[in-house]
Amino acid sequence: MNQPTNQSTQRYRWAKRARDTVAPSVAAAAHGNLIELGGGYDFPDTLPDIVPEAMAAAELKRETLQYGPLYGLEDLRDAIVDYLCQDGITATRENILVVNGAKHALDLACRVFLEPGDSVIVAAPTYMNAVRILNHAEAHFISIPQDAEGMDTEILRDCLQARHDAGEPLPKLLFDMPDFHNPTAIAMSAARRERLVELATDYDFVIIEDDPYRHIRFDGEPVPPIKAFDKNGRVISLGTVSKILAPGLRIGWVNADPAIIRRMASHKSDGGTSPLLQRIVVQLFRNGTVGRHIATLSSVLRVHRDAMIDAIREHLPGTSVYSPNGGYFLWIWLPPQIDADELVRRAANEGVSIISGRLCFAEEPPGSFLRLAYSFSGTTGIVEGVKRLGRAYAAMRSEVGGPTNRLV
Ligand SMILES: Cc1ncc(COP(=O)(O)O)c(C=O)c1O
Repeated sequence: MNQPTNQSTQRYRWAKRARDTVAPSVAAAAHGNLIELGGGYDFPDTLPDIVPEAMAAAELKRETLQYGPLYGLEDLRDAIVDYLCQDGITATRENILVVNGAKHALDLACRVFLEPGDSVIVAAPTYMNAVRILNHAEAHFISIPQDAEGMDTEILRDCLQARHDAGEPLPKLLFDMPDFHNPTAIAMSAARRERLVELATDYDFVIIEDDPYRHIRFDGEPVPPIKAFDKNGRVISLGTVSKILAPGLRIGWVNADPAIIRRMASHKSDGGTSPLLQRIVVQLFRNGTVGRHIATLSSVLRVHRDAMIDAIREHLPGTSVYSPNGGYFLWIWLPPQIDADELVRRAANEGVSIISGRLCFAEEPPGSFLRLAYSFSGTTGIVEGVKRLGRAYAAMRSEVGGPTNRLV
């Protein structure tokens, strides 16, 4: 028998869906002096202190160290109902399913709605992890462009009507992020939100509203969530504590019609979301930590956003960037001659990690966008990181030449 080795040469009989998918190795991801401006990590300096809540939860070991109830702890479902109430959402415990983060919820929605080949509407660009999850479900994508008001609902209507007229199957789901979209950071207008719900009714699809950044707001007034316009159970709203407390807690929720909640619950095959973590989160909601953390993080990230935009103005001439009113990300238009993937590679060599916009498109990815996160690194890291990116960018520009006359 062959001895197992660290680097296997074994030929496994992979499932088709896993043949071309390999997560980056730890060695490739780790880089001593790399400044992180890619991933949407929380800001480490303001992560909440949860030691008292964790100790109190550990005392309740008959609840917290046991398998938990399928739908989640009742106290947590009630706390989520109260949290949603501040956005004008009326829900009861029966509308809420606790899950292991919003991505888990999207995975469950795919399980209960999609057959391989079913169509799903997404924005172009959209959340790269949603593309991965929808790809696992073997979804067929319908990509709809966005403008400053969010997903273009008139283009969507025309597309749906054309499919209807051609006798083609209509999409079953629409996935979008109305507040501080990942990656564009655009906040969808109220009119578009309302229109999406009308279209969902007219063309018989369900909207998945993924809204993790709604409360990370620096400027401007909020408009109601898409769910607030939903009178017929057309909207599945996803929430998470990842951006309002800490992503390591891995607690999220679904707010939807009870019929959808029951289906999704029956497809939860993980043994339940950790009651220990749920109990900690109940306390953090009840004792005001969530509200305080949102306020602190929002004021810190506003400064980060400004630092990053100033640094981009200085070090990335010829690019454009939209200055968002909230969220974690900036979306950068590169001059067309600059290839984003190549810039990502060169930026890594300069010591800064960024994301190529190509990853954020479900289909036909254009190569001239970058996503930068200002959430994780402090202002010094942001400024130094953009400076390093600027060196890689300047080198590429001098090689490709040509006019690069976009204004920041
Ligand atoms: C659009 C979007 N949805 C959801 C999440 C968070 O998912 P989870 O709750 O699984 O951590 C993120 C985090 O980056 C996100 O950008």
